[in-house]
Amino acid sequence: MAGCTLYNESCITGARTHLEGNSIDLIITDPPYGIRGDTLHKHYNRDEQHVVEGYVEIPEVEYGQFSIEWIREAERILRPGGLIYIVSGYSNLYHILHALRQTSLTEINHIIWKYNFGVWTSRKFISSHYHILFYEKPGGRRTFHLESRFGTGEKDGAAGSLNYQDREDVWVINREYKPGQVKNKNELPVQLLTKMIMYSSNEGDLVCDLFLGGGSTARAAIGLNRKAVGFEISSAIYSVRAPEIMNLKPGFLLIEQRIPECSAPKRQRERWTAESRSDLRHRYGELKSQGLKKGEIVTRLMEELGRGRWAIIKALKVMDPNNR
Ligand SMILES: C[S@@+](CC[C@H](N)C(=O)[O-])C[C@H]1O[C@@H](n2cnc3c(N)ncnc32)[C@H](O)[C@@H]1O
Repeated sequence: MAGCTLYNESCITGARTHLEGNSIDLIITDPPYGIRGDTLHKHYNRDEQHVVEGYVEIPEVEYGQFSIEWIREAERILRPGGLIYIVSGYSNLYHILHALRQTSLTEINHIIWKYNFGVWTSRKFISSHYHILFYEKPGGRRTFHLESRFGTGEKDGAAGSLNYQDREDVWVINREYKPGQVKNKNELPVQLLTKMIMYSSNEGDLVCDLFLGGGSTARAAIGLNRKAVGFEISSAIYSVRAPEIMNLKPGFLLIEQRIPECSAPKRQRERWTAESRSDLRHRYGELKSQGLKKGEIVTRLMEELGRGRWAIIKALKVMDPNNR
């Protein structure tokens, strides 16, 4: 399929061979967890006969070095301003955090993904979350579509902001229960992937998954009209799952996406005059002296001046290039 290339090889050597530096807009990846007897993928009453065999695990003693090697590749292939989401359990999370700190990648958010169907326990709390590390390669413009899913003015029944709720760093997203369907161990739900892709990329962008497994990232990327590239070391998994992905129709998920209600700012595209710039400067100074943070000031100014967020940020920068 044009715009989708999946390799049956290790992502470390594979990325070195096939991917140029600074070529990827977004990486979403879910490395093996490095724990023996991993049961986190098990659902209550799930029929395991449909889980594709061949999952390659990393011995715990090698996990630190393994993490350093693949995360270095991730850093190299991301474009400046490019983004990476890494899904991780907690057992070896410290190795991943340590590896990230050996690179120039910087943290944007540490997200908790709360899921259903945690494995039942009777003498301790039930584990029902993963960590998602959201990082950026510095030096370029970050893609973050503030209103990709909910307009900033949209409210729920109790007058809470839907946009705010969607952007909190605890995500409650259920895992998919797919009775009778072929699946991978630890397959990520499409809702989770859609959220990351919608916020952090544009149609036509190149999305990479270094550990494809069942190919859920590539599937969601294609479904949202992005290009996809990825690696899966297991031939058993690759030979079953890659052909399914190659037959997908680009854009098939777009139709399911909710259209956010974003009201266009009243004075969108209106040119700034010397007077309106002076009003902006004056009001910015006033709000700052009230102790408001820059983000809060910009939101207030959007309402007061009827301008878009980026228009205000840009105008503030023009007036004062040191205003970050
Ligand atoms: C946690 S699973 C990924 C699951 C995937 N996100 C999904 O939704 O199906 C990790 C995958 O990485 C693969 N893997 C292990 N070592 C690898 C390597 N060096 N390069 C590429 N894939 C590897 C495993 O075989 C496994 O399928």
